[in-house]
Amino acid sequence: MNDTKAFTLPNTSTNLNRIGYGAMQLAGPHVFGPPKDMDVAISILHEAIECGVNHIDTSDFYGPYITNQIIKKALHPYSEKLTIVTKVGALRGPDGSWNPAIGKQDLIDAVHSNLRNLGVESLDIVNLRVGSPITKESDSIAEHFSILVDLKRQGLIRHLGLSTVTATQIAECQKISEVVCVQNMYNIAHRTDDALIVDLAQQGIAYVPYFPLGGFTPLQSSTLNRVAASINSTPMQVALAWLLQRSANILLIPGTSSVTHLRENLKVGELKLTPEMVDELDLIGVK
Ligand SMILES: NC(=O)c1ccc[n+]([C@@H]2O[C@H](COP(=O)([O-])OP(=O)(O)OC[C@H]3O[C@@H](n4cnc5c(N)ncnc54)[C@H](OP(=O)(O)O)[C@@H]3O)[C@@H](O)[C@H]2O)c1
Repeated sequence: MNDTKAFTLPNTSTNLNRIGYGAMQLAGPHVFGPPKDMDVAISILHEAIECGVNHIDTSDFYGPYITNQIIKKALHPYSEKLTIVTKVGALRGPDGSWNPAIGKQDLIDAVHSNLRNLGVESLDIVNLRVGSPITKESDSIAEHFSILVDLKRQGLIRHLGLSTVTATQIAECQKISEVVCVQNMYNIAHRTDDALIVDLAQQGIAYVPYFPLGGFTPLQSSTLNRVAASINSTPMQVALAWLLQRSANILLIPGTSSVTHLRENLKVGELKLTPEMVDELDLIGVK
């Protein structure tokens, strides 16, 4: 059943609260190396679970490997209620660079590496991360997706998703196997996927925006400031509340390295934006 607080992934019994946690910020500066303070990183994960988070987004790219290792250290053995979503399709260079790694052996190695670092025998959800630096928009990703479908058949993955993909690529993969979620860049100021969100909602597929707060370039807007002041909240909370109200299939994974920010983010379900506020906020994304 889908309600305003949770969303059930299609043809699964996986019911995810609409506010989850994106673990990328647990690694060190530039998502490279260990965190400044390991105890704080662990306490963020504990706090998230205590506050009811049952959806954590991660990857072996983060650190690399370190974020998954922190999750394991903090939360293993995992509660049956927790869904950990990871992604494959890139590798970090020794200088911190992000490099495509979408060949057959790359994907097989990445799945085994995630299994090892998270300490599980099967990954809940794996997103194939494609992205324009890896393939051109028009490129077929069927061959790459099929490799993950094979690993799913072997029992190493429960469900599959896609990340940084076009509507055409999603449709192509759906002919091969079920896609339960799509993770693309989207926020109040970056709205390329407006039509895709509607389409996925009609199909009951979760849309999980990455960079919901602007990522490495945090959102800045006088409208966000004004609306936030009028409802005694913060601009970042309003940006998240706008996403929650945007469509019932949107699941939030804001990233933070701060317990205070985590608590603020987990409260945004309580914020109610009036239709007038939404109209005003909508203009932020109009180019
Ligand atoms: N599929 C992909 O290609 C892809 C790419 C990027 C990210 N992701 C996933 O998406 C998740 C979210 O993206 P993200 O973490 O990069 O970006 P984000 O959630 O848009 O923004 C994170 C930034 O916002 C700050 N922040 C968080 N909560 C705040 C609050 N309440 N008030 C003020 N500042 C706040 C954080 O700083 P503090 O640490 O100081 O709170 C951090 O600098 C990631 O964690 C990752 O799991 C996926």
